[in-house]
Amino acid sequence: MNLSSRSNRFCTLFQIRYPLIQAGMAGGSTTPALVAAVSEAGGLGTLGAGYMTPEQISAAIREIRSRTDRPFAVNLFILPEPGQGPHEQEQRQKADEAWRLLAPLREKTGTREERPPAVWSESYREQLAVLLEERVPVFSSTFDVPDAATLAECARLGIRTIGTATTVREAAALEEAGVDAIVAQGSEAGGHRGTFPGDSDGEPPLIGTMALVPQIADLVRVPVIAAGGIMDGRGIAAALALGAEAVQLGTAFLACAESGAHAVHKEAVLAARDESTVLTRSVSGKHARGIRTALLDELRPLDSRLPSYPAQNALTQGIRRSAAKAGNPAYMAMWAGQAASLARRSGAAQIIEELVRETGEVLNRLSGQKL
Ligand SMILES: Cc1cc2nc3c(=O)[nH]c(=O)nc-3n(C[C@H](O)[C@H](O)[C@H](O)COP(=O)(O)O)c2cc1C
Repeated sequence: MNLSSRSNRFCTLFQIRYPLIQAGMAGGSTTPALVAAVSEAGGLGTLGAGYMTPEQISAAIREIRSRTDRPFAVNLFILPEPGQGPHEQEQRQKADEAWRLLAPLREKTGTREERPPAVWSESYREQLAVLLEERVPVFSSTFDVPDAATLAECARLGIRTIGTATTVREAAALEEAGVDAIVAQGSEAGGHRGTFPGDSDGEPPLIGTMALVPQIADLVRVPVIAAGGIMDGRGIAAALALGAEAVQLGTAFLACAESGAHAVHKEAVLAARDESTVLTRSVSGKHARGIRTALLDELRPLDSRLPSYPAQNALTQGIRRSAAKAGNPAYMAMWAGQAASLARRSGAAQIIEELVRETGEVLNRLSGQKL
């Protein structure tokens, strides 16, 4: 048995060889070189474009296309337009207070920012316009359901769509809206939870990959993509056994040669243990999993006084940038999943090759086995 496109619905739909997706990871890890290398190797590379300007996105798409003619995806955060969030006034007030609370962290990291950022995020609408204009092969998204007009336009242009769910309820909403495939993101996953607004300020639903994938697979008809803690052939075979038709790996590609992650972040991933990551809301205002650092510890007691995403994300950006510039891991946000210790340094194509081989080995070993 092997991991190939022949009988896989996801591969047929997305026109790829292996049902392996390299997750879009906003913040610079997913360079055009990484995306293209994964797609060239037969997987689906994804550009994490959530923090990029429209100009940066179109330049990156051009670069990916200069390196490969295989399908690739671009991932965006679905957010209200800047200044138009549902509780804008309240968030502004919280942001003013948070700015004062963060002064000691700016001091410690030598962050010279005179005033809080006026704009908290890029415009999702403007980013999306680039994807449509460029007719990217795949539009992948997280944080909410793409609106009907966007999905209709994608269908018209031949753009495949992927949404992200962290609960069965979210998966149902995505299928109802008409996405082509759904990521079931378990709580082991590195980076931000894709949880829709409304859930993100309270206790987040933290359903593990093992529990989430079969429950979503039982409900929806579109292909399910398992994500969270999958690092090798064992994880991929397990995800397939749970009913997933594809897998999405983020942390597994963070430390690879083509990844644009900061050198300090790569080393922290490779040095991680099972207990190294924690879930935090205080860095960005939205729950995310990362390697425990002083930044996460020092922000935690302030949590109830900090605004939501994207305000808090913008407020801590200067601090994180100063720390990254100084190569100081203590005040960086180094997103990573619970199985980070299984990450590899090798090139992306080699990782894909190894994942395919390992999965084949596991599936062969298990075939014919009985309880
Ligand atoms: C550094 C990092 C950044 C991430 N950024 C994004 C993002 O921009 N958009 C997105 O949909 N998911 C993002 N994720 C989550 C991934 O899509 C995926 O759910 C996760 O990596 C799966 O778990 P794993 O890291 O254990 O493989 C990010 C994950 C990491 C580790």
